[in-house]
Amino acid sequence: MILDIKNTEYVRAVERVRAYTSPHNLKAHVMTFGCQQNEADSEKARGILSDMGYTICDDFRECDLILVNTCAIRAHAEMKALSMLGNFRAVKKKNPELIVGVIGCMAAEPAVAQKLKTDFHYVSFTIEPNMLHKLPELTLKYVEENKRSFILGEDKGDIVEGAPVKRDGKFKAWVSIMYGCNNFCSYCIVPYVRGRERSRASLTVLEECRALVSDGVKEITLLGQNVNSYKSDVDFPQLLEKIALIDGDFIIRFMTSHPKDTSDELIAVMKKYKGKIAPYFHLPLQSGSDSVLKDMNRTYDSKRYLEVAKKLRKEIPDIALSTDVIIGFPGETDADFLDTMKILEDVRFDMVYSFIYSKRDGTVAAKMTDTLDEATKSARMKRLLDTQDVISYEMNGLAVGRRERVLVESVSERDGEEIYNARTGTNKLVHFKSKENHIGEFIYVEIEQASVSCLLAKEI
Ligand code: SAH
Ligand code: SF4
Ligand code: F3S
Repeated sequence: MILDIKNTEYVRAVERVRAYTSPHNLKAHVMTFGCQQNEADSEKARGILSDMGYTICDDFRECDLILVNTCAIRAHAEMKALSMLGNFRAVKKKNPELIVGVIGCMAAEPAVAQKLKTDFHYVSFTIEPNMLHKLPELTLKYVEENKRSFILGEDKGDIVEGAPVKRDGKFKAWVSIMYGCNNFCSYCIVPYVRGRERSRASLTVLEECRALVSDGVKEITLLGQNVNSYKSDVDFPQLLEKIALIDGDFIIRFMTSHPKDTSDELIAVMKKYKGKIAPYFHLPLQSGSDSVLKDMNRTYDSKRYLEVAKKLRKEIPDIALSTDVIIGFPGETDADFLDTMKILEDVRFDMVYSFIYSKRDGTVAAKMTDTLDEATKSARMKRLLDTQDVISYEMNGLAVGRRERVLVESVSERDGEEIYNARTGTNKLVHFKSKENHIGEFIYVEIEQASVSCLLAKEI
């Protein structure tokens, strides 16, 4: 069901919170861990906080309300968020009125919500990802009744529309097009914390994209846990085409795609609108071993994966490909790991994000016996990184001598000189010197040098 935020308790709650915030010039800070979906949700949270009368502030120590947007994907991500939360104990001591809220994926884990309730007394509330519109209500409950809230299980799978958004950037924007995941890869917590797949109506997405383009946005990134399984009145390739047909000088990116939904139609649309749709594809592999892929419940085998990757390279010759790999999944043998290495050498990805398997309670893989020792996992990781560094270096080297259209993103100072940072359509980081500030514009550069992680260029 589509839930318009204006038809909820939201509006009344916002008005009442304003009565509390307006005499005091209160400040709020939102801190983000995790993926782009969380970045996008934090922009919504800042929009809602502004509606509530808070001024958004960069330094959490000066704030009256702090939200921590958490990630649950690996144990390490959870530890980072919890140790950050630990810092707020002291802030709360100085400012007893401080409100601390935990949002994001950890807030949807019953065990975490329970732990926060009992062990983190300065946490005022948790809100799971699809319930962000409850922020004004829960804030009120805390300030008016001094009641802490740890709501769970209220996510009915609605699509919430109409939340205000305070975007971080002027020329780059996230647009969530679908939420949740139905794939239940055996190692992954996302389907449990983000709920089932639901896609926004294409008209609503298009309206949002049109408004962004007319506001001067140059890069739109469509987001979804499984972006290419988007399905409303149209499917993902059809939606991409509609967005590509919007008039204006901008490019489209999307993430994350699942190999099973990477159809010929999708590749054909990317080819047809190559100037508009960035020639870059993030296609998570996870493992090159068929038996591990089966245990991971990934629904494709190495042969099918290679077909998709090769088709992308064939149809869009200068496309850049990146992937995710999990090392040390329960039962992964040396031979399984070598199968993964073989695919890395075969596909020659431009970039690989590799992670050591982290057991997530409640998932199917958590019940599998994990006999691998840490030293073997680290040795595999090192071997993978060493091999991939050489490949990335060689892949980046192919760009040397090419003219590239890049979007200039920021400037940094090195040895007293201004170095501009930009990105190619293939999502590679480019550094160049310039006398003029072109931040937020597309310009042409010539690539002069490549390294493992970036390109050096001159303005032309
Ligand atoms: N929906 C996306 C990615 C979600 S999470 C997809 O399916 O591709 C991003 C990456 O984190 C995954 O691709 C996977 O490589 C990694 N990941 C997920 N769960 C993990 C776990 N339990 N341990 C280690 N890495 C994990
Ligand atoms: Fe997790 Fe798999 Fe869904 Fe990606 S597709 S979010 S890895 S369950
Ligand atoms: Fe983390 Fe949730 Fe994203 S678990 S990776 S923030 S969907």
